[in-house]
Amino acid sequence: MFSIQKIFISPTILTNGVIMRIVFLGPPGSGKGTQAQVLSQKLHIPQISTGDLLREGVDQNTAIGQKAKEYMEKGGLVPDSIVIELVRERIKDENSFILDGFPRTITQAQQLNRLLSRMNMPLDCVINIDIPLEPLIERLSGRLTCKSCNAIYHKTYNPPQKEGICDVCGGELYQRSDDTEAAITHRFETYKAQTEPLISFYSSKNILITIDGTQSIDDIAQKIEQEVTQYQRS
Ligand code: AP5
Repeated sequence: MFSIQKIFISPTILTNGVIMRIVFLGPPGSGKGTQAQVLSQKLHIPQISTGDLLREGVDQNTAIGQKAKEYMEKGGLVPDSIVIELVRERIKDENSFILDGFPRTITQAQQLNRLLSRMNMPLDCVINIDIPLEPLIERLSGRLTCKSCNAIYHKTYNPPQKEGICDVCGGELYQRSDDTEAAITHRFETYKAQTEPLISFYSSKNILITIDGTQSIDDIAQKIEQEVTQYQRS
């Protein structure tokens, strides 16, 4: 069974410590977080999840967390201005990163483009995890996340070795509060209306990689590694 710690790293197709800027796109539960964490370990570049950053804000009751909480619980998007500022602040000292769950609207994508071109750091590629909506409810309702390091598990498809305990850091596993049926349904509708248009946006820039998200976690990770290598700058 797959685990982030145990993942088999193939005779390095991708060079460790590369400079790359990558975005993960896909509907809720498609595996963006899972695959972004695997790729982050392989490339030794940080995974930046706006969902994780916002949840941290909610847990710590920060000003951003207080504003974001209501949107997140209902499965809607947090306003662009809040999320863009969060990302701007997080990436300002990075030259490589994997963005997981950002951008999610055309406005966010345009602002990201502007920000990165000012920093002279264009995106290298955008990985779109393509999957029909049917399997996603089961994935989300069985998801477990580590409270300490945000590692992602699934009760059936990727269980931890010890029930309720993170394999990576020993932290406590929990079920996200937005993985209720009502919030999941709203997240799907929001994805279709606001995020799916980004597929054409990035396709027109010739940096879109589409991956079949119905395969196993390991198979998808291998495909992503093979594809991403072609966008690596020498
Ligand atoms: P966020 O945390 O980004 O949630 P999401 O987009 O709904 O995506 P998920 O985290 O639910 O799914 P995932 O694709 O990462 O799948 P995962 O790898 O966990 O955002 C939460 C909220 O924050 C949003 O609703 C919004 O309110 C706000 N927000 C965040 N970013 C924002 C932005 N940019 N703008 C505005 N608001 C924003 O996998 C799911 C499960 O499936 C796991 O259990 C996993 O083990 C399992 N799994 C994964 N791959 C496979 C596979 N191949 N086979 C079987 N099981 C698998």
